[in-house]
Amino acid sequence: MKILMVSSEAVPFAKTGGLADAVSALSIALAKLGNEVKIVIPRYYNIDRTVLTPLEGEMGVPMGQGIEEWCAVHKTELPGSPATAPVEIFFIDHEIFFGRDGIYGTPFEPDFADNARRFTFFARAAFQLCSKIQWFPDVFHSHDWPSALVPVYLKYALRVGPLEKSVSVLTIHNLGYQGIYNKDTFSYTGLDWNVFYEGGFEDWNMLNMLKAGISSADRLNTVSEAYCAETKTGNYGCRLDGALRYRSEDYCGILNGVDTEVWNPQKDAYIPKHYSAADLKGKAAAKKALQKAFNLPENPDVPVLGMVTRLTGQKGVGELFGPSYGSAYSICKDMNLNFVMIGTGESWCEQELRHLSSELSNFKAQIGYSEKLGHLIEAGSDFFLMPSRYEPCGLNQMYSLAYGTLPIVRNTGGLADTVQNYDEASGGGTGFMFDDLTPQAIYNTVGWAMWAYHNRPEHIAAMRKRGMKHDFSWKGAAQKYIQMYEDAATDASKRMDV
Ligand code: ADP
Ligand code: GLC
Repeated sequence: MKILMVSSEAVPFAKTGGLADAVSALSIALAKLGNEVKIVIPRYYNIDRTVLTPLEGEMGVPMGQGIEEWCAVHKTELPGSPATAPVEIFFIDHEIFFGRDGIYGTPFEPDFADNARRFTFFARAAFQLCSKIQWFPDVFHSHDWPSALVPVYLKYALRVGPLEKSVSVLTIHNLGYQGIYNKDTFSYTGLDWNVFYEGGFEDWNMLNMLKAGISSADRLNTVSEAYCAETKTGNYGCRLDGALRYRSEDYCGILNGVDTEVWNPQKDAYIPKHYSAADLKGKAAAKKALQKAFNLPENPDVPVLGMVTRLTGQKGVGELFGPSYGSAYSICKDMNLNFVMIGTGESWCEQELRHLSSELSNFKAQIGYSEKLGHLIEAGSDFFLMPSRYEPCGLNQMYSLAYGTLPIVRNTGGLADTVQNYDEASGGGTGFMFDDLTPQAIYNTVGWAMWAYHNRPEHIAAMRKRGMKHDFSWKGAAQKYIQMYEDAATDASKRMDV
């Protein structure tokens, strides 16, 4: 099949979170299974044009009201793609829309004022690209709100000529971000105003891009089965539970995989010594290096609790670090452990982390983004904490399992689908879980893990090995996506027969 991934992020070019990992890794896995895959993303300011190949000529993109925006297009081969089926990645280069710091915004302007216009342009540009390169996909695969208008354009305007049989798939990586803007930004789409209502844009007199994508895509999925079920409920649906229930026949959960070339203790370029389930000596070396990197005494007997996270409410940081509320302070005060972490995000939280680092000798937080430290924390920690309020899939708990680091997670979404709770009686399980998102529950569960570390070392050792043997490769997920594409194509051909 010919598949065009339309995304606002893809590693190694643009990343704010797991979406970027998922898009590139899935593309590679699909190519390895014999599909022809291309990706299109915006060319942001930090993407160096000089290492890309420019396409000849400019490209015009119609933006409604007779206006056309012009851009350049560049391309390159996605690193890591198979030699037999290279994945090409295209960059839409519009200086005014994308030649600035930040993908969706900056700390000072978290959601750029012109985002509706920027990402309407981007979705429309994906179609112009197909004409420009004379390559017409069977499947347009969009990801989250920034490319959610692709299914709308296909359904209501552009399923014609060489795209007559094309279908659209929308993957929801995070329902918490929907792209809600003023209604009059609809005029940038150039679509008939009837589509505003028929296409599902309407949201309390505002325009909701994700909602329009949900109502227009041929098939929908999210990134774990448990989150798929949760999103159809009022508690987790972020007001779109009704829209998702309405589409439930076409909506499923497909668990993300892990890029085993990058996140693999037997190959990891960032850790001092490679290791495997058969020989964990390298893990002890990583723990030592981690304690050193965070200026902690290099003590193999003190358990290390790690975190790598965006600092936002979704990740449970309020319950952990909320001033005079969160449990991180008591965890560090009461328990003989090292707590190390790296994260960026909401400024209150960054400030609180700096404060805790200065107050507590066993708590060390780095504010910032570092792949290297991310890898070292995964490898060198004994436990990894993810007390998420909601988690569509979550990659770090899977990385943790692969590195023999036991996840301590809330029982929700992708965390529930990937971690098995410890059973004291049998020693079974791969991590420690709790249900309620409260400071007390986090405190108790970390305490439970510490108890097992000291009193049931044989269980801990067996759990580490069990987790490391789990297969989280992308191949299985890619096969499920292919099935979804085929189902969408079958429906489309039935439609044409009518
Ligand atoms: P989300 O996409 O919701 O943030 P995921 O668990 O799916 O959560 O993916 C997060 C990804 O971003 C992981 O690859 C994680 O290692 C990485 N990451 C997040 N914050 C940082 C950071 N401060 N430094 C390094 N890597 C980070
Ligand atoms: C989102 C979700 C995360 C998921 C990632 C990749 O950022 O928050 O749970 O793993 O997308 O699908």
